[in-house]
Amino acid sequence: MKIAIIGAGNVGKALSGSFVRAGHDVTISSQHPDNARAAAAETGAKAAATNAEAVPSAEVVVLAVPYGALADVVDELGDALTGKVVVDATNPLRPDYQGLAVEGTSAAEQVQARVKGAKVVKAFNTALAARQADPLVDGTPLDAFVAGDDEQAKATVMELARSIGFHPIDAGPLELARALEALALLNIMLQIRNNWTWQTGWKLVGPTSA
Ligand SMILES: NC(=O)c1ccc[n+]([C@@H]2O[C@H](COP(=O)([O-])OP(=O)(O)OC[C@H]3O[C@@H](n4cnc5c(N)ncnc54)[C@H](OP(=O)(O)O)[C@@H]3O)[C@@H](O)[C@H]2O)c1
Repeated sequence: MKIAIIGAGNVGKALSGSFVRAGHDVTISSQHPDNARAAAAETGAKAAATNAEAVPSAEVVVLAVPYGALADVVDELGDALTGKVVVDATNPLRPDYQGLAVEGTSAAEQVQARVKGAKVVKAFNTALAARQADPLVDGTPLDAFVAGDDEQAKATVMELARSIGFHPIDAGPLELARALEALALLNIMLQIRNNWTWQTGWKLVGPTSA
């Protein structure tokens, strides 16, 4: 798949490395082009000088920026996202990490409201960056929970998740992003409270087929 990643931090780099290893064609952009270039060199992706340059040829656009930058990034890209599968990997954390900055909605639904023509899918946000880079724990693939209103877009993202080693699970419509963002928050809070090493990931046990 041709993938653009917006954001070259922990998540941008982790997903870029995993996507490239799985044979995908990845272009990465960042606020500071030098950081995108460094992330691209580190992970085997291509760097774009601007967000706008990264997107046009991509089938899938992954948003991997802080929640505080999300609205600006989405507005900046605007119509360029029309018709694209847009993966929202963000978590709308409060600046002190002590809760979510959204109520009665989710970051993903906010993205969808700003770009109505895009096919927004929530994914990868429940996995910490270390696990986005390596979704196998003792040989067991972690679950990738995927929520979205466009079934085809969701299937594309589930396939993408599978290609990098996750066990994808259809979490339902985009509204379920609210639950996925809360799930991510719980894992983050556990790291902080227990001084864990930011390596744990979510895995349902028991049958996950009908
Ligand atoms: N870290 C995790 O384990 C994890 C896991 C799942 C989800 N998330 C979520 O994923 C998102 C990214 O997290 P992160 O840990 O990767 O953050 P990070 O390391 O701080 O990286 C954020 C990246 O976003 C870029 N950025 C900021 N404003 C931008 C803009 N206007 N245009 C393009 N790029 C911009 C930054 O660019 P520069 O470097 O050039 O300044 C940086 O590369 C957050 O919403 C976070 O909650 C994080």
